[in-house]
This record gives sequence, structure tokens and C-alpha cells, in this order.
Amino acid sequence: CGITGYIGTNDAKEILLKGLEKLEYRGYDSAGIAVENQDGIHVFKEEGRIADLRNAVDGNISARSGIGHTRWATHGSPSKRNAHPHQSASGRFTLVHNGVIENESELKAAYLRDVTLQSETDTEVIVQLVEKFSQTMEAEEAFRETLRLLNGSYAIAMLDIETPGVIFAAKNKSPLLIGVGEDFQVVASDAMAMIHVTNQFVELLDKEIAIVKKDRADIYNLQGEVIIREPYKAELDMTDIEKGTYPHFMLKEIDEQPLVMRKIIQAYQDENGRLQINEEITNAMLKADRIYIVACGTSYHAGLVGKQLIEKLAEIPVEVHLASEFGYNMPLLSKRPLFIFISQSGETADSRAVLVKVKEMGYRALTITNVPGSTLSREADDTLLLHAGPEIAVASTKAYTAQIAVLAILASVAGAAKRVPTDLDLVKELGIAASAMDTLCDAKEAFEQIAAEYLPATINCFFIGRSIDYFVGLEGALKLKEISYIQAEGFAGGELKHGTIALIEKGTPVIALATQTNVNGSIRANVKEVETRGAHTCIISMKGLDTAGDRYVLPHVHELLTPLISVIPLQLIAYYAALHRGCDVDKPRNLAKSVTVE
Ligand code: G6P
Repeated sequence: CGITGYIGTNDAKEILLKGLEKLEYRGYDSAGIAVENQDGIHVFKEEGRIADLRNAVDGNISARSGIGHTRWATHGSPSKRNAHPHQSASGRFTLVHNGVIENESELKAAYLRDVTLQSETDTEVIVQLVEKFSQTMEAEEAFRETLRLLNGSYAIAMLDIETPGVIFAAKNKSPLLIGVGEDFQVVASDAMAMIHVTNQFVELLDKEIAIVKKDRADIYNLQGEVIIREPYKAELDMTDIEKGTYPHFMLKEIDEQPLVMRKIIQAYQDENGRLQINEEITNAMLKADRIYIVACGTSYHAGLVGKQLIEKLAEIPVEVHLASEFGYNMPLLSKRPLFIFISQSGETADSRAVLVKVKEMGYRALTITNVPGSTLSREADDTLLLHAGPEIAVASTKAYTAQIAVLAILASVAGAAKRVPTDLDLVKELGIAASAMDTLCDAKEAFEQIAAEYLPATINCFFIGRSIDYFVGLEGALKLKEISYIQAEGFAGGELKHGTIALIEKGTPVIALATQTNVNGSIRANVKEVETRGAHTCIISMKGLDTAGDRYVLPHVHELLTPLISVIPLQLIAYYAALHRGCDVDKPRNLAKSVTVE
């Protein structure tokens, strides 16, 4: 979910809606705004996209302050009734919330037995509690008292009819920033949402409250003590967030991959053309006896490739973990662990929860992210940036290849510092990979044909590969699932026969990757096994390893870097499959680009 708030001298509804459009990556199943003027507080909500909300908002309403919300449903189905803002029983308080309140039922039972709740959300409990307490205390104290009772995560913005000209804001675990302007202040889940009005932001930390007025924002902790914090400048480039002539952001972002490779090479080179990484990060790598990579979704898949790169190039053992599992089922840690968090957005709550935990344990953490100033970047000891430019499509593409390139650079710099022998000239090889990416982006038709031939009527699809190709297959399957809703799975080629092969029927599509010399024979044997059972197979191999009948032959790149290029056909196959099925490519159902709840 995403939050916006504005208080100043301009048209609040427009600023709030524009902010929500930028936050749509955090969820888009319903949305709402509340604006305040001399007549009171006016709430507009709609199920669906921000565009639907925009149509529902009274264009004539004039207001100089308000709050907004875009939702990714957790408690309560996506509907107008469950959309935020939520109001207290008398209508005095209006509130938006991002996060999950874990003790919702206990709070209801203890304090709200006499209140009939209007929605199925945990959020409504917060606003009703504030109203309850406001019967005997000032609004600010009632707000604070409520927050003291909440267990779980929250970013909150609230309006009170009886305290006009104020936005009450608070945060715990979910991010919230205050944006500072000449004669206005804003509240937002991230800086991008409000970069069109200011680039000066003050971060709220966990269990802090802000009382935001037109000309100032005062920050307190839950005990009521004043906190002084200076604003920072958000370095975001606005120009990249337009679709241009592309029909979809996903296609644009796939096409940007060669450029991103070149930007990364440049960003991580010193004046002599040698790859460099901040010395503290390199030292932390060298000191570590084991690296723990923690991530979710596509970033986790990049982490799997990262393990190969770091173990081969830097000879440091690596474990890769899903953030949502790691926090609750922590492995026995080594003596000198280093944690690497990979997150495109830098906002994923599951990853952030682990980061907080390992920091509390006193360990060092590095975040690899695309968003400077994001929560995971701010809270880790060090950050490496992806330089991929804003990624808008929900299905991640350029961030994945950027993550792999940055991991390769990190591994290679650490390996060089350790004097690990290697034949890899990474600058040169990344350049070759970038050119190979160009070739693939120019060959879209071939992948559109594969999608048309293999996927139009199927209910499922398998991706197989061995070694590093297996990890790319996992990502290929995720892309296809996410945007075309075809059930797709990635498998290690050799494992298929131990169960999954039972699913192969006449015509079942199986896409195989063959880019690794040492497993070229064995993956082809696996392809034969499924063909024998009727599968419709499609081999994507690499030049030098290809044989007659391969459906597509990728240009040759260094074998450690093949994921940078082998993923592109899979991204494009997923794109065209989704397009042929009439799916919403950029905003697939049920998903959010950044999941900000655990
Ligand atoms: C969401 C997105 C995925 C993404 C994952 C991790 O589930 O839909 O595409 O890979 O979060 O996101 P992050 O921003 O942490 O890389």
C-alpha cells in the first residue's frame, strides 16, 4: 500500500492523485483520498486503479490539504468499502494506513465492543481507537495513546475535523517520509511519489509521530519527546518514468537492459577503467567467512546467480535465502557473516524485517538496490546502486539483469583483492553481454513466434536447465506466471524425472536452456526424456554449444554471465504470451510491485 498527504496552498486533490499514481507500484486494487476544506472532510474511494479514483473525485472540490492511499489488500477483500481512507464512527477522524496490525482482535475486544465497524480492515480499528480516546483527551494525545497499543507495522496519515490544518503522521516498520516545501509539507511512502513538488525529505523512524502543518513538521517519539532531524535531498530522475512510444513499461524496460549494462560498467569504473567498489564494502567481503544473501521474488533469483558469481570469483561461501523464511527460521550463522540484501525497490517489508533483525544482532549489512534513499538502503551499513532507472512494470526485468551485473562486479572486485586467479576480464565481458542483449532485443519477433507457437492454449509450461541455467529457468517461470497466469515451473533438468515428469503430457511445453558446457550433454538428455513422453520442447542454447534443431541460439558470452542474456528471451516470451491472452502486462492481477507488508 502507498500513502500520500499534502498541506499547503495548492490544489490538494491533484497533488494527492498524482502522488498515488506514482505509488501504484505498491498496490492497485482500490484507492481513495480525503480532502479538507471549510465545509469539512470529503472522502472519495473507488475499487480498481487510480484512474478509476480520479474519475470518481469531484473535480470542482477545492481543498488545500488531504491524505491519499492506494491499496494492496491484506485484511478484507479489495472493495470500495475496504478502501482507505477510513473514518471513525462520528466522522471526526479520517485515516489511511499501510501495514498490518497484529493485535487487531484483542484491541477490538478490549476497547471497541460498542462500536459497529464499517469495514473488514485492521485499519479501521486504529481510527476508532483514536476517536474513543479523544473523548477524554486531546487529539494528539489520543493518537499517541492509540499508537502505544498497536502491535505490528504501520505508516499512518490522519485528519481531524476539529484540528484543521494538521496531518497527524506516524510510522513503525512501514516507511513514511515528510517532504518539505516553501509553503507546504507533504507526507509520502517514498520520495518518488512527491518528487514533482519537492526533493527535500525528512525521514520518520520507527515509533515516531509527526504533526505536519503547512509551514512546519514537528517530530516526536511515542513518549512525546521532540526529535530534530535535518532534511535530505532525494536524487531521483523524473525523466525515466514515462512510457514514451512503448505500449508497455515492461517492453520498454526489457529494451533498456543493454543501456543499463553500459551505465553500470561506467558507474563502477575508476579513472583507469578498472572496476571499483567502495573499499569498506570490499573489506567487509574479505572479512566475511560466509555471505548470506536475503531477498524476495526476482531479486531472490538474482541472488541465486550471485552465489555462483561470488563463490567462483571471490571464493567466499554464500547462502541464499528467501527473506520471508529467513526471519523465522534462521540458519546457524557462521562466525563472521556478511548480509547482502537484494531489493529492486528497497522497500520490501519481508527483506526489511530481516535487515532490522540482523542489525540488532550486530551484523553488517549491504543493500543492493535500484532506489537511492530507499528504506533498505538507509538502514543498511552500505549500499550498491543498480543504476537501472525507475522500474515501473510490476514484472521485474532490467533490475534482475542489473542485480546480476552488480553482483558480478562485487564478486570480481573482492576476488581481485583476494588475488583469486581468474580468466574473466569483466569490463570486456559485460560489454560483450550488453551487445548480445542488443541482438536479442532486436530479435523480438522470434520470441513472439515462440510464444504464439507454444503457449496460446496451454494450461502449464515447464522451464528446465542445469546449474546456472536452472536459476534462470526459475526466473523465466516466474515471469510467465506473473503476467500471463499460465501455471509455470522452473526445474533443475536432472530433478524432473524424480516426480515432475509425471505432469508431462502430449503437447506440454518445455523450454530448456543450454548455455553451460559442463552440462550441455546432460540437459539435452533431459530434453529427450520429456520429448519421449510427448512434450513440445523448445531449446534455447548458446553459440558454440548449439546443435541442429535448437529453437534459438544466443550470441556467445562468458559462461558465468549467461543469465544476463538467456533471461531476455524468457522475458519476451512471457510478455508476448500475456499480450496474446489479453492480460494487463504492466499491472497483473493480485500483485504489487513492492510488497510493503510482511
Ligand atoms: C514483489 C514484486 C516482485 C519482486 C519482489 C521483490 O513481489 O511483485 O516482482 O521481485 O516483490 O521486490 P524487491 O523490490 O525487494 O526486489
